[in-house]
Amino acid sequence: MPLPHCRIVAHQTPRWFDLNQLARLSLIRRIEFYQTTGSTNDIALQLGRDDNLNSPLLVIAEEQAGGRGRGSNRWWAKDGSLTFSLLIEPPAFNIQANQWPLISLTTAIAVADTLGHCAGGCPIGLKWPNDLQLNHKKVCGILVETVKSRSDRIVIGIGLNVRNSFADAPFELRQIATSIVDETGFEWGLTEVLGQLLQALEDRLHELGAGELPLQATWERHCVLTGKNVSLEVADRRVAGRCRGINEHGALLLETNGDVQAWFGGIVRLE
Ligand code: BTN
Repeated sequence: MPLPHCRIVAHQTPRWFDLNQLARLSLIRRIEFYQTTGSTNDIALQLGRDDNLNSPLLVIAEEQAGGRGRGSNRWWAKDGSLTFSLLIEPPAFNIQANQWPLISLTTAIAVADTLGHCAGGCPIGLKWPNDLQLNHKKVCGILVETVKSRSDRIVIGIGLNVRNSFADAPFELRQIATSIVDETGFEWGLTEVLGQLLQALEDRLHELGAGELPLQATWERHCVLTGKNVSLEVADRRVAGRCRGINEHGALLLETNGDVQAWFGGIVRLE
């Protein structure tokens, strides 16, 4: 039975998820479940405008027809992948306004924690600012957005390829994307993986709020860019340099002609 602290709203019957099990997680106050929807981020952003909403709110979709990625990218997800959004109020974790830009990196670290559990043994890579790789291919994307009318709420959207194999995908896609099942052969239950991830996220957000998150050191351990020549596209500019990791504010450090500069946004590519 769910605990009274969490309300479950299931718009259809779940195939992959045990919602009662997820409702037992101490983090979650409301779950909205859809078998099919457009974008879980859009739903969370919309519900987030309600002043009476109990948060954290978890929006899960088993199939997402209009998944959005960073910039104008789309997020394509097949059956067996994890697509969800978590709406949180950062002050509840003691996260100050100047730390908000770190929430997406903190989320990426929580996903790396989860991959360490579910895909231990495979190389786990963090690609700034919020892509995760397994065996050098993209396995997860993160999209963090703010609720317009409520400046104390943010939505963390996560797409993680779990048991959706890319074996039949076009060759070009197989070269760049993968899933946990493709790399480990193990078909994890989506409830289990989501439970692990939400627990890791709760722990890491509390660490961030308490000023105890070893952001740079943890990032460095998995960073796929450090020491490599990269190019960064920011607005209309393209900057090339050698990546020197990230600073304590989460900015990417690029060294060009002996000068190290910090960059807070943009799309980075290996040269
Ligand atoms: C990226 O790689 O550019 C980020 C992808 C983020 C995809 C997730 S899936 C769940 C949530 N809902 C969305 O529409 N997008 C995010």
